[in-house]
Amino acid sequence: MPPSFRSSRRNVLGVICSITAITSLPPAMAESYRPGKTNLPRIGIIGSGQVGGTLGRLWAQAGYQVMFSSREPELLQDVVANAGANARAGDVAQAIAFGDVILLAVPYGAEPSIAEKYSKVLAGKILIDADNAYPYRDGAVAEKARSFGVAKYSAQLFPGTLFVRAFNSVNASSLTDGGGGDTEVLYSFTNDKAGEVAAQLIKATGCVPVRGHDL
Ligand SMILES: NC(=O)c1ccc[n+]([C@@H]2O[C@H](COP(=O)([O-])OP(=O)(O)OC[C@H]3O[C@@H](n4cnc5c(N)ncnc54)[C@H](OP(=O)(O)O)[C@@H]3O)[C@@H](O)[C@H]2O)c1
Repeated sequence: MPPSFRSSRRNVLGVICSITAITSLPPAMAESYRPGKTNLPRIGIIGSGQVGGTLGRLWAQAGYQVMFSSREPELLQDVVANAGANARAGDVAQAIAFGDVILLAVPYGAEPSIAEKYSKVLAGKILIDADNAYPYRDGAVAEKARSFGVAKYSAQLFPGTLFVRAFNSVNASSLTDGGGGDTEVLYSFTNDKAGEVAAQLIKATGCVPVRGHDL
């Protein structure tokens, strides 16, 4: 099968899987889908570097509407251009307002300040956290999170979100070409519906979702 056909077939499959996921979302969230435009959850990205930039591009190419964000959104022109017609850029607040699902892909040390500033507007949304906590890079908060359990620590930083931890176990470069079909992505969640959506978003990147421990 030619690679271009394989790739478009995978994208179509991802879209179909995601439409199925929407039917089982909480009613308040399901109402926010925009019939006529797209029936898929919209995705806001906080941190459009290696992980956020790659995942956002793969989701945009799979048919999801994506908003990348940065503290300097004017620097995201290339990221948006690479992701294609379903992508746009904004600041962090705009990406949160845009997304039904928010991807958090920042150095772990930034999580407490992001939580302090945005946790109220994040409440009720699916928050997918890809961050890893490294004491050498992220300081004391990483030590604290590791001793508590990183996913549980992050989940309590963002109360009221439908919290998922995913993609932290794979290198961004393994995702570059859609995972090649056999890259396993661990995911853990606090809410079953959010877990279903996360699994569909993992499949949409061409990877295989593997459920981790309960949060
Ligand atoms: N790279 C990998 O292969 C990989 C794999 C798995 C997990 N991870 C984890 O995923 C996270 C992101 O990694 P990455 O490699 O994508 O990092 P990266 O390329 O350095 O991108 C991180 C982004 O975070 C944003 N950021 C930093 N501080 C912020 C703040 N206070 N508020 C809002 N945005 C902020 C920066 O955006 P602006 O400066 O534009 O605002 C930057 O583009 C890390 O926790 C990392 O450990 C990485």
